[in-house]
Amino acid sequence: MKKKFYIKTYGCQMNVYDTERMIDVMAPEGYEETDSPEGADLVVLNTCHIREKAAEKVYSDIGRIKKMKQAKNDAGEDMILAVGGCVAQAEGAEIMKRAPVVDMVFGPQTYHNLPNMINKSLALKSRGEKSRILDTDLAVDEKFDQLSKKAVKKKPTAFLTIQEGCDKFCTFCVVPYTRGSEFSRSIDDIMSDARKLAAAGVVEVTLLGQNVNAFHGVSSDGEEWGLAQLIRKLSKIDGFERIRYTTSHPHDMTDELLEVHRDVEECMPYLHLPVQAGSDKILKAMNRTHNSATYIEIIRKLREHRPDIALSGDFIVGFPGETEEDFEQTMKLVRNVRYAQAFSFKYSPRPGTPAAQLEDQIDENIKSERLTRLQALLKEQQTEFNNSVIGKTLSVLVEAPGKTADTVFGRSPYMQAVQVNVGEKDIENLVGRIVNVKINEGGPFNIQGVLA
Ligand code: 5AD
Ligand code: SF4
Repeated sequence: MKKKFYIKTYGCQMNVYDTERMIDVMAPEGYEETDSPEGADLVVLNTCHIREKAAEKVYSDIGRIKKMKQAKNDAGEDMILAVGGCVAQAEGAEIMKRAPVVDMVFGPQTYHNLPNMINKSLALKSRGEKSRILDTDLAVDEKFDQLSKKAVKKKPTAFLTIQEGCDKFCTFCVVPYTRGSEFSRSIDDIMSDARKLAAAGVVEVTLLGQNVNAFHGVSSDGEEWGLAQLIRKLSKIDGFERIRYTTSHPHDMTDELLEVHRDVEECMPYLHLPVQAGSDKILKAMNRTHNSATYIEIIRKLREHRPDIALSGDFIVGFPGETEEDFEQTMKLVRNVRYAQAFSFKYSPRPGTPAAQLEDQIDENIKSERLTRLQALLKEQQTEFNNSVIGKTLSVLVEAPGKTADTVFGRSPYMQAVQVNVGEKDIENLVGRIVNVKINEGGPFNIQGVLA
């Protein structure tokens, strides 16, 4: 009988990718994914450490799962509870201490060993020995070698990790400590994974990296490639009709990469380019290496190459020392850029990061109040962007059946979530296809249309 494997993903798309890979590595071991931790044989929490709230959630989930594990034990069966991801990397020993119910802790660079860890734990348990395992090594290369051997699932969209880790050390951020230093996968490996995805029917690939545009490598004919060259090559693979990449840093937004948005049809007109703040004083304190003017200049060039590009960003409000004037600079930058989508957060001091040591921490109420103002402006811009496509015909990649029997869900080139009314059409046949959709309704979160 198949064993049940429940995995919960917190945080970013890199974690979504890692989760998919864990499902891949556990499948040959007889573990099948299930959508509830209740009764599962293996529960993995793939955690996120970026903000305090995300990390705290893990401990409350562990508490909830503890009861389910107890129920399973009472029935004479076992459940392995494993904590993976970035909280595991940062606080592995603490988790082991604080939550004795956790059997296993592993970091983002060791999860390819999951089958070994599970087998080892089961063997130790069966001998009545101490079976808790902690593996938070940070060396990356072996992981991808192991993972590339596993099969890929058939889905119209896929993530492909090309780069991992970060050397930028923004003063607020834990990523350089939890994901390790910057690492680019080899071009051969990436191309080989990409061909497998295309052969499995993937139409849209999203290249992933914490600093994806810092990707660099040497091709088999000795040429230096950056992300721009990689996208150009990937666009030639039969079957790939859409290419996206995330997350980029303004520092590595080269002219070659900007030109890709002009030249490569498959490169979608959407870019997530976090700025974090509009005040140069705050950007400096954040160690961002760009200022508001250099960021705006990138956006100007990008729009010159691709006038319709949809822009997205990340913002932090209430970074230590942020005055009302500094915050106003963020609002000014947002008005200037006009975002199609954005993510904004209150600054959350993270243990071990330089900004957490700064004296002039901002009061929580002020952070909340600024976040409310910023989010109102961003929502207004997002609604405006979505409404601007009403009446237009957009190409939509159908990803899944919709909420009702006559609709499907897909994404526009601009990353908008689109609900498409398809009438009597066979929905299963539409999944994975790019269709033309006449948009008839906008709104803040998604847009709607009918097949054109
Ligand atoms: N506090 C608040 N937001 C943060 N981010 C990263 N670290 C912190 C922090 N300590 C945000 C940044 C980043 C996004 C992924 O999360 O905006 O781009
Ligand atoms: Fe964190 Fe900055 Fe690196 Fe992004 S660039 S992962 S915010 S340190």
